[in-house]
Amino acid sequence: MNRNFWSSLFWLANLPRRVRERLRRRAMTAQLAAAGQGFCFDALTATFVTPHTIRVGNNVFFNLGAYLSGDISIGNNVLFGPHVSVLSGNHLFGIRGKSVRHIRMAQDNPEHIEPTRIEDEVWIGAHSIVLGGLTIGMGAVVGAGSIVTKDIPPYTIAAGNPCKPLRRIFDDNVLVEHLRGLGYDESLAGELVERRRQALQGLKLATIDNTGRYEQFFYHGQLQPTGAN
Ligand SMILES: CC(C)(COP(=O)(O)OP(=O)(O)OC[C@H]1O[C@@H](n2cnc3c(N)ncnc32)[C@H](O)[C@@H]1OP(=O)(O)O)[C@@H](O)C(=O)NCCC(=O)NCCS
Repeated sequence: MNRNFWSSLFWLANLPRRVRERLRRRAMTAQLAAAGQGFCFDALTATFVTPHTIRVGNNVFFNLGAYLSGDISIGNNVLFGPHVSVLSGNHLFGIRGKSVRHIRMAQDNPEHIEPTRIEDEVWIGAHSIVLGGLTIGMGAVVGAGSIVTKDIPPYTIAAGNPCKPLRRIFDDNVLVEHLRGLGYDESLAGELVERRRQALQGLKLATIDNTGRYEQFFYHGQLQPTGAN
């Protein structure tokens, strides 16, 4: 049997899964508070526990097994590796005479929810867990298997448990140029540079710029502004 035969057979065998996935994706997307263009996720493995408090920007890609619960805002052009969880709620505990199992913030709200914000251009590595009440700054990269417990500054690589900054992505001048190239305005660039400076002050981190290393690779983005989140 030739390769085409087996690929066609594989395609046919997967048809019911594809149909179920597409129907479920449509239903799940419709329940979200907001979902932008080009939102991509595997509906048979993803779970959106609180869809009415989840907002997703344009061109957001989730790999398999996304798990989102709580008040979550995701910007534009964000990438999630497989099995990433964003958990912006906590159960209430440590209350005298009361069982953790039965305390609720309100009848319809079982958890103490603190908003989590993931800004534009972020990449979150596989199997990471992002907790509530924090911001992952624009352009940050979170290493695989990280547990994010605090804000991550913009254009910073961070990793580990707890997740901590490891490297700056671009020096300040190159960052401004990079953002201009993506179509973001100067005032946002200035704000991001300042935020990063403040957040990383006192830390001696190397700066990476992969332009020379990877510039020749295929780029399928538009050289047009996507708008700041
Ligand atoms: C974070 C990441 C992008 C860093 O890549 P990099 O810039 O090439 O970084 P390096 O390999 O030079 O590592 C820098 C340092 O961070 C540490 N580090 C890197 N990734 C780490 C991680 N996930 N957790 C903890 N530490 C990590 C390295 O051990 C190294 O430490 P050292 O300076 O003490 O030696 C990469 O390691 C990673 O985690 N990628 C995610 C992969 C993934 O999830 N893919 C899914 C595809 S959708």
